[in-house]
Amino acid sequence: MGRLENKVAVITGAASGIGRATALRFASEGAKVVVADVAHDAGNAFATEIGGTYVHVDVANEQSVESLYATTVDVYGGIDILFNNAGISPADDDSILTTGLDAWRRVQEVNLTSVYLCCRYGIPHLQRRGGGSIINTASFVAVMGSATSQVSYTASKGGVLSMSRELGVQFAREGIRVNALCPGPVNTPLLQELFAKDPERAARRLVHVPMGRFAEPEEIASAVLFLASDDSSFITASTFLVDGGINGAYVTPL
Ligand SMILES: NC(=O)c1ccc[n+]([C@@H]2O[C@H](COP(=O)([O-])OP(=O)(O)OC[C@H]3O[C@@H](n4cnc5c(N)ncnc54)[C@H](O)[C@@H]3O)[C@@H](O)[C@H]2O)c1
Repeated sequence: MGRLENKVAVITGAASGIGRATALRFASEGAKVVVADVAHDAGNAFATEIGGTYVHVDVANEQSVESLYATTVDVYGGIDILFNNAGISPADDDSILTTGLDAWRRVQEVNLTSVYLCCRYGIPHLQRRGGGSIINTASFVAVMGSATSQVSYTASKGGVLSMSRELGVQFAREGIRVNALCPGPVNTPLLQELFAKDPERAARRLVHVPMGRFAEPEEIASAVLFLASDDSSFITASTFLVDGGINGAYVTPL
């Protein structure tokens, strides 16, 4: 028996990176997985590979999110797990002194409004099942400051963190757990693209990781599996750091 046998999980941003690694892991643990993404071709091919279902969604669009869940219920009959993970980190989101309002708003929409929408329309489905687990992807930057700023990204993740905490408290007695996953830097296309443009920025960040390396997406997927499964049955409203020790460090090893 897998740890997610007979559970239905909706994973946003599942065509790449952390979402993809998690979808793979969930499927191997017996879950029925909905691969939800804007990346149609990659998402579709991947869903077929893992025996799941691809649903095209723009997480910043209200109607699109509503119909994501409607389709999931049509296909699988209900929903137990939401991994609200899709996010962007565009290069024009930088210092507050140079980041324009359009860039600011786009990141807020895709990273924060999306989590609001996914929880607003997803929680009623979990209530119908009598409980469930929600994991919202925040980031270690929600709890620490950086001099190499991405101001809207950081603010969006702070919002995801505090919203998750509040939802975890509000729905605790209904058996719905809500946790904010806070990964440290992870070796995914999102990070690779950002750092390829600015290797100095990558090197500066690496210095602050006690483990001296970025995480692999599979290491984050293991933590998401824990939060999604009954193994974490007494954990809700938490700031769940998976960061190679960054948050605990003052001086890192040479
Ligand atoms: N990689 C890191 O270092 C890191 C660290 C902390 C937190 N995170 C967060 O983890 C999450 C996943 O990041 P990743 O590194 O796997 O990124 P990634 O770029 O590899 O994957 C993101 C996925 O989200 C999808 N997506 C983007 N906009 C979307 C939209 N509007 N609607 C639906 N899907 C959309 C993309 O198509 C892609 O498949 C993000 O929320 C990111 O902010 C990443």
